[in-house]
Amino acid sequence: MSELALFGGEKTRKTAYPAWPLHDERDVAAVADVVRSGNWGGFPYPGPQTRRFLNAFIAMQGGRYGIAVMNGTITMEVALRAAGIGWGDEVIVPAYTFQATASAPMMAGAIPVLVDIDPDTFCIAPAAIEAAITDRTRAIIPVHIASQMADMDAIMAIAARHNLIVIEDAAHAHGAVWNGKSAGAIGHFGSFSMQSTKIMTAGEGGVLLCRDEEHAWRAASIIDCGRPHDPAGQIIVQGGNYRMTELQAALLIVALERFPAQARQREDMANYMDEALSEVDGVRVLPRDRRLEKRALYRYTFAIAPDDFGAPNDVLERALLAEGIPCLRGYDPMYRYDLFQPAASRLAVPSAFPQYFDYTKTRLPVTERISGREGFWLDEAIFRAGSEGVDEVVAALKKVQSALRRDPTLADRISAL
Ligand SMILES: Cc1ncc(COP(=O)(O)O)c(C=O)c1O
Repeated sequence: MSELALFGGEKTRKTAYPAWPLHDERDVAAVADVVRSGNWGGFPYPGPQTRRFLNAFIAMQGGRYGIAVMNGTITMEVALRAAGIGWGDEVIVPAYTFQATASAPMMAGAIPVLVDIDPDTFCIAPAAIEAAITDRTRAIIPVHIASQMADMDAIMAIAARHNLIVIEDAAHAHGAVWNGKSAGAIGHFGSFSMQSTKIMTAGEGGVLLCRDEEHAWRAASIIDCGRPHDPAGQIIVQGGNYRMTELQAALLIVALERFPAQARQREDMANYMDEALSEVDGVRVLPRDRRLEKRALYRYTFAIAPDDFGAPNDVLERALLAEGIPCLRGYDPMYRYDLFQPAASRLAVPSAFPQYFDYTKTRLPVTERISGREGFWLDEAIFRAGSEGVDEVVAALKKVQSALRRDPTLADRISAL
């Protein structure tokens, strides 16, 4: 077996995986049309491209009302504010997610309460939600991580019992379907990101799906500087300018046209990946919940058993990146995440709610295990390289594993690099 690329050996994958975002003359023409129209921005909201995009997005993703905004962080802040949630209210979020899920409640003045995840999905654990509910809890933000979805049946049942608002963070979940319903169209709100790495992108962008009409009018007012958008012109909520531009919407219309074929290819290749990975020692393919009818596959997640595999996820990440496999070990627990800085917020000053932000004793065991040792993420680009792209991932995993088995000091040497 050849030497690891990390130490000068030949890479397993010798050419780069396909770049993202994909683009062709359709994108150029769509943007050129908007440029020529002179109607570039988001005012007056919604412009013709934005309206067209929202209609097409809802036709694909479900949901009743759509609001087009500049990213998939403000979506969650707007959802909370549209639901009347703010200063000092508790919002339950998973500890394993991008910082936006926890920072958005804080931007609305609310307190993110971090809870543990399910080891089979890396998504919020319903039992952990239930255990964290207090009389100040107002909302839950489940996140559909990478290729999985949170157990929305259990979460909606908990929310109904405790009269809580559910905002699905579906930044990764375009096109995903759970038990007959699309991601983002199950909760009271669904939050989507169209940032440059996402599987539907305009570089930046976001959509907020709203189930309730009044929420939708409130959200539309918030994102458009407080202008009313309800037919009677009466629903006015103090807001800002968070509108999507027409240029973004035009790119997203094209992205939506490409999306169904891309989603089919990702799902086919992910099924192939499930089978291929199940033959690698020490790799745990995440079980497929039968209610997860369609996976979005923003990234492909699996777990390793470090003792059987021969090393934890950070060692594997370094070795595989050097082999030419785009991958990552996933998020740090939110309470140790360098982008999450609640101490810099007025919510944490002594006269406000400092008790919520002392994480010195916080230990969420599944989050720590998945984050620190077992969780692993593969880039979606791999699926666009077809079965050969997947085969090379498996070959690289086996190469790293066999090197680890030959040399018991190797994991420590890689860690020390
Ligand atoms: C889970 C999750 N939620 C929210 C966001 C925020 O989206 P945006 O970058 O569009 O603000 C991201 C990523 O960027 C994300 O990964």
